[in-house]
Amino acid sequence: MKQQRVAVLGLGKIGNILLQGLLKAGLPPGNAVATVRHPERAQALGKERPIPVGTDNRAAARGADVVIIAVKPQNVRELLEEIRADVTPAQLVISVAASVPTAFIENLLATPTPVVRAMPNTPSQVGAGMTGICRGKHATDAHLDTARRLFDTVGRTVVVDEKHMDAVTGLSASGPAFVYIILESLAEAGVKVGLPRDIATVLSAQTLLGAAKVQLDTGDHPALLKDMVTTPAGCTIDGILELEEGKLRVTLIKAVVKATQRAKELMFEK
Ligand SMILES: NC(=O)c1ccc[n+]([C@@H]2O[C@H](COP(=O)([O-])OP(=O)(O)OC[C@H]3O[C@@H](n4cnc5c(N)ncnc54)[C@H](OP(=O)(O)O)[C@@H]3O)[C@@H](O)[C@H]2O)c1
Repeated sequence: MKQQRVAVLGLGKIGNILLQGLLKAGLPPGNAVATVRHPERAQALGKERPIPVGTDNRAAARGADVVIIAVKPQNVRELLEEIRADVTPAQLVISVAASVPTAFIENLLATPTPVVRAMPNTPSQVGAGMTGICRGKHATDAHLDTARRLFDTVGRTVVVDEKHMDAVTGLSASGPAFVYIILESLAEAGVKVGLPRDIATVLSAQTLLGAAKVQLDTGDHPALLKDMVTTPAGCTIDGILELEEGKLRVTLIKAVVKATQRAKELMFEK
């Protein structure tokens, strides 16, 4: 990645997170450039960042090996129409826009350009991100590998078929919001049973982190790990009974299903 020149078109929340990750991983600031829509925002961001931030998407795209598209789904078309004459098959276009298929991007570009579609998430800001990627019809294994190395700088990366990208969006891209609600609820529960709020919050957050780390490190089925905590006639099983009665499982499943369905609609909005 260190030799590549990267342009982030749309330096918003996720664009910023990816850029910070790349710079932290050793991308020289001289190899990066970014754009936003509003000149005053470009000016403000340019003062805070070690890289040039402007509004000229065409110039930014022209000078890059990897062009990252990080604008809202409904702005992807106008952005591609703007830069189409400046993008060549020697470059790699990576789009993180939810709901936008690789074929849509390929069809708007003037030449048969390699495209990788990616769906990162906000924990990428602390190097604990989860990104799903898939390739368009002109992208080779080498292009997929470039994208994987880019997203590996901010966490884990999995390669999936494009038909699964909306599901990745509903699970791991929306997922942090669902988990923050669980984290907040557990902390609230700690307060209810008498713990100071700051202690309750750290107990809750570290418990989620630890449980997730055990699953990732061991690969064990979550049900098996749950059973290890659940002593017969102990206190955990009483808590589990409450969770089942409150339909936590089915509620979470329905949340991901809804978010996945919604992910299919975003690019068609004004
Ligand atoms: N947030 C997440 O957790 C997440 C996760 C995965 C993927 N994504 C995807 O990432 C994309 C951006 O989401 P976000 O949450 O980062 O949104 P955001 O914070 O609103 O950022 C969008 C950025 O795009 C810029 N922009 C809009 N039109 C532009 C144009 N024509 N040329 C250059 N820049 C332009 C905006 O500039 P101004 O600031 O000047 O308006 C803004 O900085 C979306 O497609 C979303 O689906 C988001």
